[in-house]
Amino acid sequence: MPLLGLGVYDMYKAEAEQAVEDALAIGYRLIDTASMYENEVEIGNAIKNAGLDRKEIFLTTKLNNTDHGYEAALKAFDDSLKKLGQDYVDLYLIHWPIKEGRAASWKGLEKLYAEKRVKAIGVANYNITLLEELKLTANIVPAVNQIEFSPWLYQEDLLAYCKAAGIQVQSYSPITRGLKFSDERLVLICNKYNRTPAQIVLNWHLQHGISTIPKSSKKERLVENFDATSFTLSNEDVKIMNGFNENFRICDDPQTYL
Ligand SMILES: NC(=O)c1ccc[n+]([C@@H]2O[C@H](COP(=O)([O-])OP(=O)(O)OC[C@H]3O[C@@H](n4cnc5c(N)ncnc54)[C@H](OP(=O)(O)O)[C@@H]3O)[C@@H](O)[C@H]2O)c1
Repeated sequence: MPLLGLGVYDMYKAEAEQAVEDALAIGYRLIDTASMYENEVEIGNAIKNAGLDRKEIFLTTKLNNTDHGYEAALKAFDDSLKKLGQDYVDLYLIHWPIKEGRAASWKGLEKLYAEKRVKAIGVANYNITLLEELKLTANIVPAVNQIEFSPWLYQEDLLAYCKAAGIQVQSYSPITRGLKFSDERLVLICNKYNRTPAQIVLNWHLQHGISTIPKSSKKERLVENFDATSFTLSNEDVKIMNGFNENFRICDDPQTYL
């Protein structure tokens, strides 16, 4: 799985297709969609039109909250594949840990994996308590845990837990949708490296070994964000940014799903 990819939440159909087309031309090879985003058809079209070898692209989609349960998850996966126009996806995630059904849904994902219909299975929005709960009934350790993460939501314990368990952390809302770009401590670091806030923040994720999927439907920002891989923050500056943490969240706290 590439470390840096494109998230396509909140992109309306034609906009999503154009953004994925642009992203693939720029060099992105990881695309993160979801049944909930209602743009799987357009994402599939963009992938087909790119003319790349399918094996070069890492495609993720997710089980919707309304599709939990063993049979429902299997059916939802089929529906997603059909919409995407694909024979397989690289990663299928449980989008949110809906209490009624999350354990049974995981069994469904394990079946899809056993049948080689998906290259990897994982979860999103699982905290340590939820991962411990999953361990009680799961046969397969999730390959990925996709969680909200940023310097302002530095979930050090969850990151360490996932690393120890062999679960790759992937960060969503990694640049806080721009809401923290005027943080003066960040501006100082931007000036030091002559880099944009998005690039500094994305590089911080990469220095932590976290895969990250910033969203943009603007070509110039797709280029800007992709360029976050072309420099390296010093360990000292990574540590300074770790200190930005203030448990700042945009999306729901998974704790409320217990
Ligand atoms: N698993 C989950 O529950 C979950 C939840 C949320 C998100 N996600 C995934 O994670 C992806 C990213 O998260 P996100 O969309 O919430 O937030 P994000 O990537 O932190 O921020 C996206 C926002 O920032 C703007 N932006 C992008 N690049 C920028 C730049 N270089 N400078 C200034 N502004 C910039 C975008 O606007 P423009 O498009 O106008 O550039 C957009 O409004 C989603 O698309 C989705 O795939 C998953």
